[in-house]
Amino acid sequence: MAPDLAVQLGDLRLRSPLIAASGTVGSVWEWADVADVSVFGAAVAKSVAPEEWPGRPQPRVAPTGTGMLNGIGIQNPGIAAWVEKMRPAIPMLDVPVWGSAVAGDPEGFAIVAKQLVEAGVTAVELNLSCPNLEEGHLFSFSDSASAAVVSAARGAVNVPIGAKLSPNTPEIVEVADACLQAGADFLVLTNTAFGFGLDPETSRPLLSGGVGGYSGPGLKPISLRCVYEVAQALPDAKIVGCGGISSGRDVVEYLMAGASAVEIGTVLLAEPEAGKRISRELDDELSRLGADSVSDIIRSVESW
Ligand SMILES: Cc1cc2nc3c(=O)[nH]c(=O)nc-3n(C[C@H](O)[C@H](O)[C@H](O)COP(=O)(O)O)c2cc1C
Repeated sequence: MAPDLAVQLGDLRLRSPLIAASGTVGSVWEWADVADVSVFGAAVAKSVAPEEWPGRPQPRVAPTGTGMLNGIGIQNPGIAAWVEKMRPAIPMLDVPVWGSAVAGDPEGFAIVAKQLVEAGVTAVELNLSCPNLEEGHLFSFSDSASAAVVSAARGAVNVPIGAKLSPNTPEIVEVADACLQAGADFLVLTNTAFGFGLDPETSRPLLSGGVGGYSGPGLKPISLRCVYEVAQALPDAKIVGCGGISSGRDVVEYLMAGASAVEIGTVLLAEPEAGKRISRELDDELSRLGADSVSDIIRSVESW
């Protein structure tokens, strides 16, 4: 019998631990046109802000050996336009859609979260890897700034909320704990890491913004470290692992380290149907390990 892939993430029941990561599947419906979304437990739409953000000038993405850099600047149409387009689309999709909120202050996050829910999303991620307008650095670099965003969003919506943190967060366990105390239902670990590349032929950075976000296989040990450390320190934390996953074996590593589900991003850009392959590979890995279900291996990492 094939292993049971369903997982529980707090109050959310997911038919599969695989989730499509924000920013790599557009607003989900575009991607659903070219990929079989039924193998996913959920798909997260691109982050959206209270008002339209134009994003950074080109070039905004670049390959860099293993993985890629992006410096899109979270281009998005603003929540009002997003809701107009997505409200009719969400019920037509064969996958639960999660929203992702981004803003410069806690009130902005709350406004976006509320409207995402009105558009029909099942859960809301708070993209805390964006600059806090008051302090100038990423929300997730500060436990108090992160907690302020989570509690503002918590007061605005009743659906499950996930706090998505940067792997560059200096004290990730403290920030994760503060998010959970403030009412986050789960953590998403992690977003992209700061990265930089240049082209020796032009002497210019690969991205117009210089420093950008690094994603893909090279990110895996960094994000996996975040999952492992947070899971070890916070035994009740519900975690979605994310960073560099491109195979069923990668998924198993995240689950064992402490994640209850995982997000896959960059691999979908090169291989839109990667979810089907990774799902098959996960099945094989679980059978090989003698596990009847995904739940059997979550947080099963042993110490030496
Ligand atoms: C082109 C691109 C755009 C992204 N946009 C967003 C975004 O809008 N919001 C967000 O929370 N994460 C965004 N991310 C981060 C991904 O959701 C994911 O956390 C990260 O890429 C690490 O996973 P991966 O190595 O599987 O890609 C983006 C990533 C890429 C590559």
